[in-house]
Amino acid sequence: MPDLFSRIEQLKKERNAVILAHFYQDPDIQDVADFMGDSLALAQYAKKTDADVILFCGVHFMCETAKILNPNKTVILPDLDAGCSLADSAPPEKFRNWLKHYPNHTVISYINCSAEIKAMSDIICTSSNAEKIINSLPKDEKIIFAPDRFLGSFLSKKIGREMVLWDGSCQVHEIFSERELIKMKVRHPNAEVLAHPECQENILQHADVIGSTTALINHATSSSNDIFIIVTEPGVIHQMKKISPLKTYLTAPNQEGCSCNECPHMRLNTLEKMVSALETLEPQIKMSEELRLKALKPLERMLSLS
Ligand code: 13P
Ligand code: SF4
Repeated sequence: MPDLFSRIEQLKKERNAVILAHFYQDPDIQDVADFMGDSLALAQYAKKTDADVILFCGVHFMCETAKILNPNKTVILPDLDAGCSLADSAPPEKFRNWLKHYPNHTVISYINCSAEIKAMSDIICTSSNAEKIINSLPKDEKIIFAPDRFLGSFLSKKIGREMVLWDGSCQVHEIFSERELIKMKVRHPNAEVLAHPECQENILQHADVIGSTTALINHATSSSNDIFIIVTEPGVIHQMKKISPLKTYLTAPNQEGCSCNECPHMRLNTLEKMVSALETLEPQIKMSEELRLKALKPLERMLSLS
């Protein structure tokens, strides 16, 4: 393991590379990253870095976003198969045809979608700026929200605005069990429940705090409470423990009864694959300039509002 860490450091210097990682990555990857963040912070960082190479430890749509913002940089990811069930739940052709039923609507797409979906959108949002983005639109503007129906319906109720929702979801967040969560709350009455808004409504109704990965980490580490039930991918607990090691972080069980909600896509990335990506500069994210420019517009609109 120490060999892999030092090899990554060496290759990083040789390539003038920067390593970006999402909080759902394995702890080892988090520890070797130059910058960690939620989807918004990662996009913002990717836009301003002056490295020649971005090694993006996350999933495909995140790396694609970095490429859209940095056409002249080499953007590589450890494993090209690291996709996202939520992004996959909106196939471009189906989405294009569906949009035809809703003329005169503004399309807000959650960043967890492909470049093709971004290109069909008017504005992008993440879990940390979605409310602000929606509220930036005039009250009478008709809105489509895609692809996450749970996040969409959570926002719609919170803001008090009707939106047409695409029927997509995240396979990690939709399988938390309400029954098991209630049992856990009974066993740990002092625990605060911290949930990601990609969870279903029946789960979110039990949450004390609902927010992006960064918001949940910030809350857990700054709260005067010392015990938490974490209802998102458990990768966030590594950062929580690093900042506040004496607190207790319990992982919420899923419908199979186990606390094993690791994202199978995020977890495809490994230190070995990072070494290989830095050595070969593959796999790379590539796309046509036409698609990139179309996807860039709604992303820039989001960044200017964030
Ligand atoms: P955030 O880190 O932006 O909260 O997103 C979570 C997520 O599901 C990423 O795939
Ligand atoms: Fe996609 Fe869900 Fe994994 Fe996030 S946790 S990358 S939304 S499948």
